[in-house]
Amino acid sequence: MRVSTIASTLALAASGVQAQYYANQSAPFYLVLSSQNETLNGTTLSSYHEGAAIESFGLGGPLSTASVEYTFNYSIQSWQDPPPTGVNLTGLLTWELRGGNFNLSSPMQLSYTPSSNVAVPLLEPSDDGTLVAFDDENKLTILSYQDDTKPLPNYAVTPTYNWYVCTTYVGYLYQTLAWVVGNAEPQNPTCQKVDVLRIFK
Ligand SMILES: *[C@@H]1O[C@H](CO)[C@@H](O)[C@H](O)[C@H]1NC(C)=O
Ligand SMILES: *[C@@H]1O[C@H](CO)[C@@H](O)[C@H](O)[C@H]1NC(C)=O
Ligand SMILES: *[C@@H]1O[C@H](CO)[C@@H](O)[C@H](O)[C@H]1NC(C)=O
Ligand SMILES: *[C@@H]1O[C@H](CO)[C@@H](O)[C@H](O)[C@H]1NC(C)=O
Ligand SMILES: *[C@@H]1O[C@H](CO)[C@@H](O)[C@H](O)[C@H]1NC(C)=O
Ligand SMILES: *[C@@H]1O[C@H](CO)[C@@H](O)[C@H](O)[C@H]1NC(C)=O
Repeated sequence: MRVSTIASTLALAASGVQAQYYANQSAPFYLVLSSQNETLNGTTLSSYHEGAAIESFGLGGPLSTASVEYTFNYSIQSWQDPPPTGVNLTGLLTWELRGGNFNLSSPMQLSYTPSSNVAVPLLEPSDDGTLVAFDDENKLTILSYQDDTKPLPNYAVTPTYNWYVCTTYVGYLYQTLAWVVGNAEPQNPTCQKVDVLRIFK
């Protein structure tokens, strides 16, 4: 497990006023990969240092009490009404960045590059991030609200599961969790399909 370090200047952010849009928080849980690849199957996700207060989701080894804990932050506004199949709530996938004298909630946000269809989920201190959900099988999903493969407008709330593990380069070369944008094969040839499961402590 790699624990990130943080530039001391960022400690200032800890004293700033934070709007609490997603202030309801789930119990802590671990994130575990499910994959056809037996090496990846059952491997946990861990927070990997990519830059000052920036982490990606790297591979964390088998599930143990030392595995990295994540939480799900939501609000009353994030109830899905009517709920799409198996999903009640959207919210932020969060990890707590711990410094010497501060703790900062770091939600997941997808980091996109216009030249690639492989986005990298990153954790950074913020009030906002990419809205995700957990379905009734505890699988991490992102809701699609419009099916643009059909004539528009085509409003249809559908859970999508475009998670992969790929070799990515944000600040370092790691195998990390990735998200493929849209209904396509990842252009990064190292990508392997996975699902991400939530397992409560
Ligand atoms: C998540 O919820 C906890 C508990 O209310 C709060 O301290 C934290 O700031 C929240 N994080 C975000 C990103 O809203
Ligand atoms: C992955 O792990 C699960 C849980 O241990 C197991 O049921 C499943 O058969 C495994 N799949 C593969 C492809 O190894
Ligand atoms: C399974 O994943 C490991 C780790 O990424 C990789 O080294 C191996 O080549 C993969 N196996 C297959 C059959 O794709
Ligand atoms: C969030 O917490 C508040 C205060 O405890 C509660 O009234 C509200 O119902 C909760 N929201 C959800 C979506 O559970
Ligand atoms: C950060 O969180 C840990 C674990 O909950 C706690 O022990 C520690 O006192 C917190 N630090 C600060 C500065 O709040
Ligand atoms: C959604 O809400 C229903 C009714 O409260 C509950 O039975 C179900 O377990 C919830 N599903 C999820 C994924 O939380």
